Parts: sequence; structure tokens; C-alpha cells
Amino acid sequence: RSTRFYDFKVQTTRITKLCNTKDIVTVNGMYPGPVVYAQEDDRVIVKVTNESPYNVTIHWHGIRQMLSCWSDGPSYITQCPIQAGQSFTYEFTLVKQKGTLLWHAHVSWLRGTVYGAIVMYPKAGVPYPFTYPYKEHIIILGEYWLKDVVQLEKAVLASGGGPPPADAFTINGHPGPNYNCSNNDAYKIDVVPGKTYLLRLVNAGLNMENFFSIANHRMTIVEADGEYTKPFTTDRVMLGPGQTMNVLVTGDQSIGKYSMAMGPYMSAQGIPFQNISAIAYFQYLGALPTSLSLPARLPSFNDNLAVKMVMDGLRSLKSGHVPKEIDQNLYYTIGLNVQQCHSPTPQQNCQGLNNGTMAASMNNISFVKPKISLLEAYYNRINGQFTEDFPGVPLKFYDFVNGAPNNSPNNTQSMIGTRTFVLEYGTRVQLILQDTGTVSTENHPIHLHGYSFYVVGYGSGNYNPQTAQFNLVDPPYLNTIGVPVGGWAAIRFVADNPGVWFMHCHFDIHLSWGLASVFIVKNGKGELETLPHPPADLPRC
Ligand code: C2O
Repeated sequence: RSTRFYDFKVQTTRITKLCNTKDIVTVNGMYPGPVVYAQEDDRVIVKVTNESPYNVTIHWHGIRQMLSCWSDGPSYITQCPIQAGQSFTYEFTLVKQKGTLLWHAHVSWLRGTVYGAIVMYPKAGVPYPFTYPYKEHIIILGEYWLKDVVQLEKAVLASGGGPPPADAFTINGHPGPNYNCSNNDAYKIDVVPGKTYLLRLVNAGLNMENFFSIANHRMTIVEADGEYTKPFTTDRVMLGPGQTMNVLVTGDQSIGKYSMAMGPYMSAQGIPFQNISAIAYFQYLGALPTSLSLPARLPSFNDNLAVKMVMDGLRSLKSGHVPKEIDQNLYYTIGLNVQQCHSPTPQQNCQGLNNGTMAASMNNISFVKPKISLLEAYYNRINGQFTEDFPGVPLKFYDFVNGAPNNSPNNTQSMIGTRTFVLEYGTRVQLILQDTGTVSTENHPIHLHGYSFYVVGYGSGNYNPQTAQFNLVDPPYLNTIGVPVGGWAAIRFVADNPGVWFMHCHFDIHLSWGLASVFIVKNGKGELETLPHPPADLPRC
């Protein structure tokens, strides 16, 4: 096992895109940011120095952070932000982890520009479960705004409505020819005919889920969220923000220029979105630079079935690791509400976060960030920052799917709070995530920090234990699950990693509206089951 050192300088960088020159926040001047390369079981040490004017933290999305909760990165959950001029060193071990993940800023909407890939190779001498391809490429899907992303969040929250669409979708930071001044701003892969390529797909977008496809080429999924899958061949994939997927593509077409396209998947109706695609090229060596590209076909923006078909194809390569018994059966609704005041509802029920009218919640609790990090508050037993009474089942349930008989106005509203659910070390957890809401239903990419989980079931409509079908043999092992629009997903994990772990919708706008919750996982009995002390350079609030 070796140690990999990285130096991340968070800085302001001048960039020209879409006929516009502006400053964005980057790491080391790169957009997307630098790739973190490592091997399974390596130690990774990243010194982050904040030379930007904004508060910063970096989250290593999908890294389990076994006994290193302090390095997880979500602001006000495991650390206070790194302020301008300060630095903090993240240290963690890639315990049994390999594949593709991403890192991103985890404060305000800064991850709109501050993001990059994590590539973890298997240990030396350990083969891949597929023939290793000729070459590999990282493909990061992103969103680009002309407005400063930190200001954007403030403006959207103040507006009371949803976010505007991004000004461009991007592939590795490049919008491609569908956008202004971007004809030559397109990413390209040079293809040797007959060779196979591994594409490491990452969705680093802020507020949109995305389809991806390549003209005339099929993709074979071999890994999702950093875990091998049974090979599954498909024309298109869908990735929610935070999700990663490795696919194999063989250059088996005639010599030419083929589009790779990224476009929106928007399951909620009536929300403005950018229905044009970012384009990159899969271009055979020998193709004329002037040759026209064959267009990639994307599903239509509301094609729920296309999403289900990708999900149905995901199976863990290995069987037999799913917890068969469960100790804790949890049921969380996830949804969006418009907060209205109905007397005699207490005042706190009348407002969303930031005095807004929109509230997003889990079990009708809209998450409020504490003033200091929860992990610090928990570790140092500082009172008044959080409570341990997050309800394990909904207090109220607005049944969007059937229109419940008891949908009185009060039942549609959320309370604000910083509530956590406490798990004893080693608890085998099943969590049903149920999409609902009074505004609309929507496919929400729900991400759990500190764990991956088995997605043992999912379906449309309301979860019904009598009819739900579970796969306890080879379900996918993910860190982010797109809960089907108007439907449910069941996940299982064993609480074997002590710490304070955020769980939230990976649409940043929903996170800003409070669609989040926290698990506290207690220490076990052994020394190797106990949280270490906080690092000396941990930022102060
Ligand atoms: Cu990738 Cu809490 O996020």
C-alpha cells in the first residue's frame, strides 16, 4: 500500500466559454479539476489550501471514510468550511475500494465548478473482471453557468422558485457545437478501429440528471458507483448527479466521426430545463476532420422507462453479500412542499428554509444546517446544535400517488429542524425511500455519505410490503440511488462505520431547500471501531 499526496489550491481562474469571459473557482486552475489517481487500499492525503474568496470544503463522494469521518467534507456536517487563506488536509484510506468516483466542493453551490474524478486501480496483480481495454478516458458530465454559482444559489433561494437551467451542459468542461461560440470547444476521443475503450463516466452536474449515449455504438456497463457489475450492454445510460459508471465501448463501426451526447432526464413536469445536449466526439483515426458526425440519439427528456431499463440491468458482479436479516426498518418520505400558513399551525411550520416558500424534506423534516459541524458537536458533546429524534417513519404522509384521504393542509407541510437518527454500531438497516410531495413527484438522486448500500428493491407508486419484490442475491451496490419518480427504493446497509453521515438529495437546489437528513453511527466496542480524534488543523467556524 502506498501513500498518494495531492496539493489542491482552490483559486479564482479566468475562463472563456459561450462568448463570455469570467472568473470561476477551480482547483489548481483546472476545469474540471485534477484527477486523484490511487490504488485499492492506498492512503490518500490531499492538502487543500483556500486561495479563493469563498468558504470551501471538499467531499470525496463514495469514499467510505472508514474511521476517517473527519475527512468526509460536507460543510457543517463533518467540518466547518475552510475559510479564505486557510488550509485543511484530508486523509483517508481506500479500504477495499476501486473504480471511478468523484470529488466535489460541498458548500453553497461551489461544486458547480469545483469537481473532478477519482480513479482507483485494483491492487497490483489483481486482474479486472473483463479484458483490460486498449485505453481509458474520463468523461465528466457537468453544467456551466454564466452567473457566479455562489451568487446563483442566493438568487434562486431569494426568487422562491426553482433554479434556471444551466447555460450549457458540458462534457469534460466543453459544451460542444449546440452552444454559442462552442464549435471548437468540444471534447474528442481518438479511436483506433477495432480497439475497446473504457469510459469512466461521472455526473458532476448540480441540478439535473442526464442521459448519455454514443452514435452507432453500444456501451457495456461493468461498474457503477465504484463497484463491479455483471456486464450489461445498452444504447444509453442515465446518471444522476454524484453517480459514476464505467462502460466499455468497442470501435466496431466504419471509420468516421460519431457524436457522444449528454442531455437532460427531467421526470418532474412543468419545470424549465435545458433540452439541448452537450456534444463530444468519438472519432476514428483516419476520419476526415471535415467529415460530418453521426448524431447520437438520446431518449426524450421524460423517458422514465429508459431510466428503468438501465436500473433493471444493474446487478452486482458478486452475489451473497446482502444483509438477509434487518434490525432497523426505516421509512423516509422524500418530497417538495410549498409552505403555507394555516392557523393555528405554529410559525415554524409556515416557512421553508431561508424564509422561502419552498421546502424540501425527508419525513416532513426540512433539514437546517447547524452553526458548527455536527460531528464536532457530537464528538465534544456540545449541546443545542442538533436533536436525536429524527422520526424513523413519517409523521405525516402526503400520498401524492393516490391522493390520500387525510391530506389536510397541515399534512402537506414540513417542520424545520436539525434532527438526526442514531444507529448502534453494527445495526443492519433497511431504509425505504418513498417519493412524494405536494408540488410534484420527481426522480431524486439520494446519496448516503460513509456507506454504499444494496438497492434491494424499487418500484413505482407507494411501497407495499405485501407486493414489493426484493433482490437479495445480486442487487447493485451504490452510493447514490435515483428513487423512481412517484415511486420507492429499498436500500440495505450495515452500520459499521462510526461517525456522522449526511444523506441528501444530490440536486443542490433540493439540498438548499432541506432535502437532507443525518445518521449518527455510534462507536463499536473495539478500538478499531472507534472514531479517531479530530485532526489538529480542523477548520473552526
Ligand atoms: Cu456528492 Cu453530500 O455529496
